Amino acid sequence: MANTSTLLEHEVVFFGGKGGVGKTTIASAFALFAADCGKRTLLVSTDPAHSTSDVLETSLSNIPQSVESNFWALEIDPSAEADRYITRVKNQIAEATAPRLASEVERQIDIARVAPGAEEAALFDRFTKIISEERKQFDLIVFDTAPTGQTLRLLTLPEQMSTWIGCLVDRRRKVNALGRMWRNVAGSSASGGDRKPDPVHEALEERRKRFETARKTLANSKRTAFSFVLIPERLPIWETKRAIEVLAKHDIAIGAIVVNRILPSDVDGEFMARRREQQSQYLERINQSFGSFRTHYVNLWESDVIGVADLRTLAKHIQFDPNS
Ligand SMILES: Nc1ncnc2c1ncn2[C@@H]1O[C@H](COP(=O)(O)OP(=O)(O)OP(=O)(O)O)[C@@H](O)[C@H]1O
Ligand SMILES: [Mg+2]
Repeated sequence: MANTSTLLEHEVVFFGGKGGVGKTTIASAFALFAADCGKRTLLVSTDPAHSTSDVLETSLSNIPQSVESNFWALEIDPSAEADRYITRVKNQIAEATAPRLASEVERQIDIARVAPGAEEAALFDRFTKIISEERKQFDLIVFDTAPTGQTLRLLTLPEQMSTWIGCLVDRRRKVNALGRMWRNVAGSSASGGDRKPDPVHEALEERRKRFETARKTLANSKRTAFSFVLIPERLPIWETKRAIEVLAKHDIAIGAIVVNRILPSDVDGEFMARRREQQSQYLERINQSFGSFRTHYVNLWESDVIGVADLRTLAKHIQFDPNS
């Protein structure tokens, strides 16, 4: 799905792509550019490698940290997030479980903490909170994501999870209704216990609403856009094509394609001339495959892109907003 509006016109913008293609660099440059344009912008890194702190030359944590005027950033550490998530779940369950079961329930939750997928579930929980709640304090949220596969899973989860949670909410409602019926039959309804809020039902309902909000935000092409960063090589082109197909199935719109590390035309030598020739073939292929999307081209720099000054220079070169 092509998107005619510029990235700046969205509320949530993702940057994804293969490992090492420049996602963190481009996402940071875009977030800074948006902040400079007057948007209250939050840059969120879900990359466990913490490279956002490096490129911004500042230390970040899991809560928004002010970096520049209008510009905040946070880094989510999946492992720490999983620990916090497990503590929250334990507290919620402790309220709803009979004390004699508490130690067994705790043991089961501790096993779940080390099971495959626990960190992904925690990351997902935080991700939906940012999209549905923290977003209210900002005009724009920019996600610098981990390499493509993991991000796609994360983005397509709200749809599956809200259906699944919906089933759990229904089931809990039925259990409560059965309980009420049983107490009526047993003649104990006079206790008034029926009207007490059910913490399990409330927790499920809160999650269901949050996942639903996240899903609606992601599927709204006016509010959310996904941008791919790639380099003019065979595998990143192939992976980007595949990822665009997956996102289209989930109604997530593509905001822009950023082609990074293009060899400048004035680099010397026969070796470089051959590399350039090879790149120009891939650039042609990129144009054929992604020509319908807004595309930005970025030259390879002599050195790494580090710090706010470099990011501003890069953003100017990229021209995220042709009208600015
Ligand atoms: N156009 C460019 N010219 C020169 N160096 C660049 C350019 N774009 C990115 N880099 C450098 O390449 C390295 C990798 O970039 P970056 O960390 O942004 O990639 P990434 O896609 O986020 O990687 P990962 O998949 O590991 O998260 C960094 O050192 C960055 O400074
Ligand atoms: Mg990165």
